[in-house]
Amino acid sequence: MDIWLDEEMEHAKARTAAIIGAGPAGLYLLAELLEAGTFRRIDVFEAAPAPFGLVRYGVAPDHPKTRGISRVLAQGFETTEARYFGNVTVGKDVTLEELRRSYDAVAVSTGMRGDRRLNIAGEDLPGSIGASELVAWYTGHPAAPKISLPEHLRTAVVIGAGNVALDIARILARDAESLVPTSMPRAVVDALKASTLRDVHVVARRGPAQAKFTSPELREIGKLDDVDVVIDPACLKLEAEDQAEIDTRRQAKTIVKVTTEWAQRPATDAARRIHFHFWRRPVRILGDTAVAGVELEPTRPGTAGPLHLTAELLIRAIGYRGSPIPGLPFDEATGTVPSDDGRVVDHSGPVAGIYVTGWLRRGPTGVIGTNRPDAAEVAESILADMPDRNAPGGSPEDVELLLASRGADRLTWDDWRRLETYETELGQAQGGDPIVVDDVETVLRVIAHGES
Ligand SMILES: Cc1cc2nc3c(=O)[nH]c(=O)nc-3n(C[C@H](O)[C@H](O)[C@H](O)COP(=O)(O)OP(=O)(O)OC[C@H]3O[C@@H](n4cnc5c(N)ncnc54)[C@H](O)[C@@H]3O)c2cc1C
Ligand SMILES: NC(=O)c1ccc[n+]([C@@H]2O[C@H](COP(=O)([O-])OP(=O)(O)OC[C@H]3O[C@@H](n4cnc5c(N)ncnc54)[C@H](OP(=O)(O)O)[C@@H]3O)[C@@H](O)[C@H]2O)c1
Repeated sequence: MDIWLDEEMEHAKARTAAIIGAGPAGLYLLAELLEAGTFRRIDVFEAAPAPFGLVRYGVAPDHPKTRGISRVLAQGFETTEARYFGNVTVGKDVTLEELRRSYDAVAVSTGMRGDRRLNIAGEDLPGSIGASELVAWYTGHPAAPKISLPEHLRTAVVIGAGNVALDIARILARDAESLVPTSMPRAVVDALKASTLRDVHVVARRGPAQAKFTSPELREIGKLDDVDVVIDPACLKLEAEDQAEIDTRRQAKTIVKVTTEWAQRPATDAARRIHFHFWRRPVRILGDTAVAGVELEPTRPGTAGPLHLTAELLIRAIGYRGSPIPGLPFDEATGTVPSDDGRVVDHSGPVAGIYVTGWLRRGPTGVIGTNRPDAAEVAESILADMPDRNAPGGSPEDVELLLASRGADRLTWDDWRRLETYETELGQAQGGDPIVVDDVETVLRVIAHGES
C-alpha cells in the first residue's frame, strides 16, 4: 500500500502547469496549486513586464493600501516550483496550443482589457474615451497610449455608477498636488496639475438605490479637499422599487443616505465640483471634431426632460470587456470564456487540460478578494482532473527553447525585482510610494542594467 502511494505521489509531482496572466486570479491560483504540492513546475506567463494585473494597472494610485496586496500575490514566486515569464504575450510570442502541448494543465486568467461601448453617436470623437484607457494611462501601463487632456478642459463627464466611475471622478477632481507622493507617473501628475478642470459629472442610468458604488468609495468623494458635491434632490425621489432595495440591501441604504446628505449640503466656493445625475443616460455625444458635450435623457418617468452638458472630455466607465485569445472558445455576448467549474468548454464539451479563472471566467465584476475563492474552485477542478490526464507530448523546457528561438524578450522574477527596487528608490527620493515607470524603454533599460 505504501509503495503504491509513493509511486502515485511521484507520478503526481511530475505534473506541470502554465498560468496565463499574473493578475490576482492567476496568482491566487498559483498559491492554491503550490499548496497542493502536486506540481514540479508552474510557469506564469504575463504580457506586461510587471506582474499583478489590475492591482498595479487598475487600483487607483491614491489607494496605496489596496495596491499593497501585490506583496501577498508575489509570495508564490518565492518557491522553486514557480517561474515568471514576464513580457510574454500568449497568442503572440507563444500560442495556447503550444502551451497545451507542453503542460498538463493550462489556466487562462487574462482578465478584461477593453471597455464596453455605449453605441451612440459621437462615441469615437477625440475626447471620448473608455475608462480602461484613462486608468491604464494614470496608473502607468507601459503599453497604454499617453493621453493628452483637452487643452481648455473645464468639464468632464463620467458615464456609469460603479467604483471605476468613482475612481475616475476622484482622480480628476482631487488636488493634483496630493498625488505627488503616490505611485502615479510624474508626467501624469504634471498633466493633472496643468489641467483647468472645474466640473466632473457622474451620470447613472438608475438611482442611488441601484448604483454599484460601494459605501467607503462613495463616502471618500464627500471628504475630498476643496471639492463640492452637487446633486439635484429631484433625482433622489424614492419610489416603491427603491424602497425595496433599501430594505433588503445595506449598501443601497447607505448610498441613498449619503447622497441625500450631499444634496442638502450648502455649496462652498470649492475649486472643483463633482455632480451626480441619477436616472439619466447619454443618447448622443455632441461635437464636430472633438467632444463638445453630451445629451442626457431621463430613464424614469417623472425625471425632468433632456439635459445638455457642455464638456470637453467624456469617459465611459460602464464595465470592462474581455478579448479572445486565439484558440480559446469565447462568448462574444458576455466577453467571457465559457466554462464549467473552471473547465473551458466548447461546443463539444470540456476542452481537456484548459481552465479559466478570474474576470475572464466570471465577467468584469468583483473586488480583488473575489478572485481568491474563484481560483480555489478552479484549482479543485485541476487537481481532480490530474490523475486521469494524459501526459503532454512536450515539456516546459520546450517552451523556453521556443521563446528563445523566436527572440522573445522574456523577463524573469529577478528582472521584475530590479524594476521594483528602482521604482521604490524613485519614490523614496520624493518621500512617497514607489513610482510606476510608464515607458517600455526605461523598464527594459533598468532591467538590463539596474539603475539608470
Ligand atoms: C480601474 C479598476 C480599479 C479597481 N480597483 C479595485 C480596488 O481598489 N479594490 C479591489 O478590491 N478591486 C478593484 N478592482 C477589481 C480588481 O482589480 C479585479 O477584481 C481583478 O484585478 C481581476 O483579476 P484578474 O486576474 O481576473 O484580471 P487582471 O487583474 O486584469 O489580470 C489579468 C492579467 O493577464 C495579463 N494578460 C492579458 N492578456 C494576456 C496574454 N495574452 N498573455 C499573457 N498575459 C496576459 C494582463 O496583462 C494582466 O496582468 C478594480 C478594477 C478596475 C478595472
Ligand atoms: N475601490 C474598489 O473597491 C474598486 C474600485 C474600482 C473597481 N472595483 C470593482 O471592479 C468591478 C468593476 O467596476 P466597474 O465600475 O467597471 O463596473 P460595475 O460595478 O459593474 O459598474 C458599471 C456601471 O456602468 C453602468 N452601465 C453599464 N452599461 C451601461 C450603459 N450602456 N449605459 C449607461 N450605464 C451603463 C452600470 O449600470 P447598471 O447597474 O444599470 O447596469 C453600472 O452602474 C466592480 O466589482 C467594482 O466594485 C472596486
